[in-house]
Amino acid sequence: MLLHNLTAVPSDTLQARFNLAQVMAEEAGNMAMDYFMRRKELTVETKTGLQDLVSIADRNVESLIRDFLRESYPEDGILGEEHGVQDGTSGYLWVVDPIDGTAAFLHGMPNWCVSIGLLKDNQLVMGVVRVPCDDETFAAIKDGGATLNGDGLMLDAAKTLQNSLTGIGANHDIPPEMVGSVICDLMAAGGNYVRTGSGAQMLVHVAAGRLAGFYEPSMHIWDCLAAYCIVAEAGGLHRDFPLEGQGRLAGGPVLAAGPGAFEALDQIARKNELKYLR
Ligand code: IPD
Ligand code: CA
Ligand code: CA
Repeated sequence: MLLHNLTAVPSDTLQARFNLAQVMAEEAGNMAMDYFMRRKELTVETKTGLQDLVSIADRNVESLIRDFLRESYPEDGILGEEHGVQDGTSGYLWVVDPIDGTAAFLHGMPNWCVSIGLLKDNQLVMGVVRVPCDDETFAAIKDGGATLNGDGLMLDAAKTLQNSLTGIGANHDIPPEMVGSVICDLMAAGGNYVRTGSGAQMLVHVAAGRLAGFYEPSMHIWDCLAAYCIVAEAGGLHRDFPLEGQGRLAGGPVLAAGPGAFEALDQIARKNELKYLR
């Protein structure tokens, strides 16, 4: 395995894990890109239905990340979308989505990414999202700021639902009418929507100030955790996601926005959650 250079940082620190996360995200992104370039050879499998796809690319990219972690931090826990939970003893839990945007990936669109988040004692402490087709790495460590390819990110309040685009995600875990209703309310408020096919990518677009906000009624922790850290460190706001207990493995609403759009988007989301999800 390609060994990372952790320079002088003591290995049992958050900073050393953050350095490793960026190396892993790049290596995982390279492996995923290799599969993407020869995606016609991949056998596409379905999970819950024809819109919920997976291939060996997802599994092997996650295995690569797990190999890195087993070598460097065998005492850390891992929760990955494709290979499940492996408990640890250090208090650290890595939360990995090897390819977020699998449907886009397998259909040949560039909107997919590798997402690596980290909890310490059930608190979100770090996130890295690598978008290989854009050659973009978003990274954040708690209280250390967020970066895009090394340049600092900081949101201002100028972006609103009205003067920007908003990412809306949807899957078949929610009533289809709800999607229409959320989009209807957003447009009635003077906004407009995009959906790229990767929730994690849309969340980091929020951190970069490209989208006013992002909302999806039901996602998993591996879809949002890393990007939540990046949004928060860029000065944005996000809903809480359950970080411990049973809630951690269940799906839940995901919402993040810049300071000028959070309240308005949250209001639209809550109105629709009351109507469709209770
Ligand atoms: C999915 C993507 C998609 C979102 C789904 C997620 P996957 O993740 O983020 O944009 O709408 O809810 O499950 O399956 O591509 O890792
Ligand atoms: Ca995902
Ligand atoms: Ca995935």
